Amino acid sequence: MEVLGIDIGGSGIKGATVDTLTGTLTRERLRVPTPRPSSPGAVAAAVQAIVDHFSWTGPIGVTFPGVVLDGVIRTAANVDRSWIGVKGADLFGDQSVVLNDADAAGVAEMTFGAGRGRPGVVLMLTFGTGIGSALFVDGRLVPNTEFGHIEIRGKEAEHRASDRVREEEDLDWDKWAERVEEYLAHMRDLLSPTLIVVGGGVSKKAEKFLPHIHLGDTPVVPAVLLNEAGIIGAAMAAAGPARLP
Ligand code: BGC
Repeated sequence: MEVLGIDIGGSGIKGATVDTLTGTLTRERLRVPTPRPSSPGAVAAAVQAIVDHFSWTGPIGVTFPGVVLDGVIRTAANVDRSWIGVKGADLFGDQSVVLNDADAAGVAEMTFGAGRGRPGVVLMLTFGTGIGSALFVDGRLVPNTEFGHIEIRGKEAEHRASDRVREEEDLDWDKWAERVEEYLAHMRDLLSPTLIVVGGGVSKKAEKFLPHIHLGDTPVVPAVLLNEAGIIGAAMAAAGPARLP
């Protein structure tokens, strides 16, 4: 089934049509900058521009960087606070399905990427403006886990170890990898996953930091769908429950 997937991020909004059976983009992806301030109205206009670009009239999957419960936005850590309480369908239309960005990326990675066929507890963490999390138990998603807000040394993990913090504090890769390793070790101790998948914008530079990260017996692997995971997972969610693991 072909569905339009749209990934709302802190710096860009990306969209493409997706074949949800193969997890591949059917047309070249379009990226527009995230408006500032990132208010619901401004973001909806940017999403509409993507819909128009693809002349799309069918179902739409949309990711959001916050908790999404029954289609309603519940938190907004890295976007405008006025999102809280907004119903996705009121903004993006009746044919839309909205879900957390890391959950969407995780669903795509578990089906077509690094977590494919992996049983047991699998944890995907995305490192970008914030830290997103998606937890899977025998391939089934436990939605809205929000592990980026767990405290490490008295600070939220995403305020110590996100990719944004690496850039803002101008940390070199070794230094940043130390922080990520401490965080991953903490998550390993809490959840005992059989696999940790590292995704988000920074996963395309995995060779710069993953070699510095050692978690003993717990394998840590880079996501393979890179920038497309959110778009693909969003489209899968809108294609219906049959396409979610
Ligand atoms: C949000 C999560 C989101 C993550 C990555 C966090 O600040 O609370 O919902 O998945 O950032 O965007």
